[in-house]
Order: sequence, then structure tokens, then C-alpha cells
Amino acid sequence: IRAHLTIDPHFTIGPVNRRLFGSFVEHLGRCVYDGIYEPGHESAGEDGFRADVIELVRELGVSTIRYPGGNFVSGYRWEDGVGPRDARPRRLDLAWHSTETNEIGLDEFATWIRKVDGELMYAVNLGTRGVLEALDVLEYANHPSGTEWSDRRVANGHPEPHGIRMWCLGNEMDGPWQLGHSTAEEYAQLAAKTASAMRQIDPDLELVVCGSSGAQMATFGDWERTVLAQTYDDVDFISCHAYYEPKGGDYGSFLASGVNMDRFIDAVVATADHVKAVRRSDKTINISFDEWNVWYQSRYNDVDKITDVADWPVAPRLLEDSYSVLDAVVFGSLMISLVRHADRVTAASLAQLVNVIAPIMTEPGGPAWRQTTFYPFSLTSRLARGTALELKLDSPVYDTELYGEVPVVDAVATRDESGGRTTVFVVNRSLTEEVSLDIDVRALGRIAAASAQSLFDDDIHAANTLSEPERVVPKGNPSLQVGDGTVSITLPAVSWTVLTLD
Ligand code: AHR
Repeated sequence: IRAHLTIDPHFTIGPVNRRLFGSFVEHLGRCVYDGIYEPGHESAGEDGFRADVIELVRELGVSTIRYPGGNFVSGYRWEDGVGPRDARPRRLDLAWHSTETNEIGLDEFATWIRKVDGELMYAVNLGTRGVLEALDVLEYANHPSGTEWSDRRVANGHPEPHGIRMWCLGNEMDGPWQLGHSTAEEYAQLAAKTASAMRQIDPDLELVVCGSSGAQMATFGDWERTVLAQTYDDVDFISCHAYYEPKGGDYGSFLASGVNMDRFIDAVVATADHVKAVRRSDKTINISFDEWNVWYQSRYNDVDKITDVADWPVAPRLLEDSYSVLDAVVFGSLMISLVRHADRVTAASLAQLVNVIAPIMTEPGGPAWRQTTFYPFSLTSRLARGTALELKLDSPVYDTELYGEVPVVDAVATRDESGGRTTVFVVNRSLTEEVSLDIDVRALGRIAAASAQSLFDDDIHAANTLSEPERVVPKGNPSLQVGDGTVSITLPAVSWTVLTLD
């Protein structure tokens, strides 16, 4: 089958913000402990952070990293994690039925994030705490010195403020599973008070208010409208969260998850702009898509298996999904959706980074390796530069149970004017057919060099594992041809491809 794409650099969507390539480190399972931090591991430095993981995180090309949760944050006392280690309490983590040792807290994480050149995005607890604790942690993190909390940070060995710009006002407060979950009205009041109080310390903070924990929530839409109606002037972003998995072997719908993400984003943008219109406001609220991924929630309900509260483990193996080629293709298409909305999705965080629904896996005392999903992330982060372009795409369609008729091919492109490079990201969602894609590049001028890499495999369930860590890697696509004003390429069935045109 054939598809056709036209690229014209005059039709722009918006600049691709580096924050689109953020991720998320939660105190959950082995993300922190036995993930980024494993004192005693042969690659660990004096501070206990694994150098092999740091190297992979840098290669992944992550920008902002959200911390410390997630559901964890709604029961978290940030003070537990600062100061002398031997005085830090062990606590029950109700979200993940685990014991939190508090060996790692804000200061250690801020130290680690500098090693990966990331930007810290900090979530405050609005589940079981409120305005005062948010002000305290802000003062601790960002105030230079001379006050109770800032001087404690200095005394704890961190004379320089951490300078955190982006702050999440709680996490998934609409979810019944969330500690202290509330109605939209209750949450909106607390978020508004917290935001305006935090702005008294620093009016330039960038604040993210909780949207729905998913478009499937019964309160979706009303939640966003109610929350934004009360917080509009004091926040900058509203959050979106979305996780995808195949249901009942319906791979056709699963491969079209990006269609769902597109519709979700459009709905939240419409709701935010509705509130803007009602308020006659000049300000535009953008989206921080601060949790997204493929997550086999129905396959791994391992938290429920930890029942004995007298014996909740430290850093158990939780949510350790192993990702296949199929998952990576869906994952790549979710990134296409994010880049396509670069004008309104100006921050996003892949949930999560290490071991927990993660692109990077580690074995205690052993190696670290890249899951299949590592590749679409690292390549998109490295190559989606400059401005996102609106494309003219003609693709055959197929029927899905969940989303109706959807295009077989989906694509987005970016153009980096400084280097003159155009990059195209494209998926073939067909389970059986390869697609011959013709790209009209006349508007780009002469193409001096072109290259393409594709992620696919005869076995769509192939994955990278401890015993076979490089089973799946992207391969150069030899079908790429550059003609006079056209580029053509064959896209294998169930594949993700990136083309660079220079
Ligand atoms: O990322 C895993 C969990 O998913 C997060 O803790 C929570 O916010 C979401 O429900």
C-alpha cells in the first residue's frame, strides 16, 4: 500500500520546547533505590549514584525530570529526606505498599540531576498537606540563605539554592486511589491558595495545576474547567496523564493510541481556552503532559499483592514492564502526537525513567540496559529540533474498535532553520502490510544528504532483556531514495522510522 506526504517549511505549528523530552523519577519500586542509586554497585560513585545509569540517562536525552511523585508525593513529608542520613525516618509509603528509607531526598536528587544535565521539576504534596509545607519546601530549595529553611539547606551542605522553576501542585487529585483525593472544587481552592502563596516568594515560578488523571475519568472535562476557573491567573500549565496498553489482543486499537492522545490534548486545549474566553483573559494556559507511556496495568497489578503492612518491603520490583517492538512503535507514535501539539504541549514527562515502566532497566550488582522504548525517545529528543511542521498526509485508513477509522500512517516533521535540517518521524500502524511512502520535498530545496533508521522486527513481541539486552535496536533503512523533489521509503509493518533530510 502507498501513502503520500507533503512537507512545506512555511506551514509551522510552533517551536519544539526542550521540555517536551522530560521524564519522571518517583519513589516507587526500584526507580530510585537499586535504580539511579545503588551504593556498592561497581559503577557507583562516592554518593552512591550508578555511573552506568547516568550515562544512559544522558544518552536518552532527557530534559526536565519530575520528582518525587506521582502517587507517592501525596503521603510524602519532604523534610524526612533532608539533613543527616542517620536521623532520617523510615516511613510507610501507602501508595506503593513499601517502606521508604528516605536515604534519597531533595538535596541528593538535585545533585544527581546536575550529573545528567536535567532540570528539576518538583511536585508538592497537596493530598495530605497544604500551603505551609509547599512554602517551606520552596524556601528550602530556592531561597539563597538567611532564613530558617534556607539556612538548613546551607547547613546540609548545599550553599547554592537549587533554583527549581517548575512546580506541580499535587498529583492526580481527581483519582480515588490518591491519598487525600478531593472534588474539583476542593482541589481548586487548595491549588489556588498554594499557587498565590508560592508566588509571593517568587512571582516567576512556573506552576502546573492537576488536570484529570486520564481522559477516561468520569469527571474529565468538568474537572479541568472547574480547576482552571479558580486557578487561571495563578498557574501556567494544566497537566495531562495517559497510559496505553492493548486490551483483549486488540493491537489495531493499541497501535492507534496516538489518535486518542491527539483527541485528549485537543479536548484539554479547548477546555482551557473556554475558561480563557469566559474570563476575557489574555493569558494562555499550556499543557504539561507530565505522565505518558505504555503501561500494562492489567498485567502487573503487583502492588495489590503486597498485603502485610507489618512487612512492607524496601524498593520491591513494581511496574517493571518489559517493552516489545509493538510497544515501542506505539510509544514512538505518542511522541509524534506530542511534537504535533508543540504549540500547546510545552512540557511533557515520560513516566518513568528507570526500572518502573521505564526505558532504562538495571539489575542490582549487574548491568543496565536499554528497553525498546529507549530508541524512539532518544532519537526524537536528539533530532526533533527547531519548529514542528504541519504536514499534508494522504494515508489509507483502517478500522479500529476503539477509535473508528484511523490512518495507517502517522507522521510529524521538524525543521531546524539554523542547521537547515528537516526531520520526519513516521509510524506504519499496519499489522501486516509494508507501506511505500512518497514524500514531496520540493519546498525544502535541494536535499544534499538523507538518512533513515527504522525500529521493527519480524517478531513484534521481541524485547530487550537482561540476557539479551540488544535484541532490538533501530536499523538503517536501505529503501530510502532521494529523487528530484521527492524522497521515498518503505515502512515495514508495525514500524517507527526517523528520516533526516539535510
Ligand atoms: O507512574 C505511575 C503512577 O501513575 C503515578 O504514581 C501516578 O501519578 C499515576 O497514576
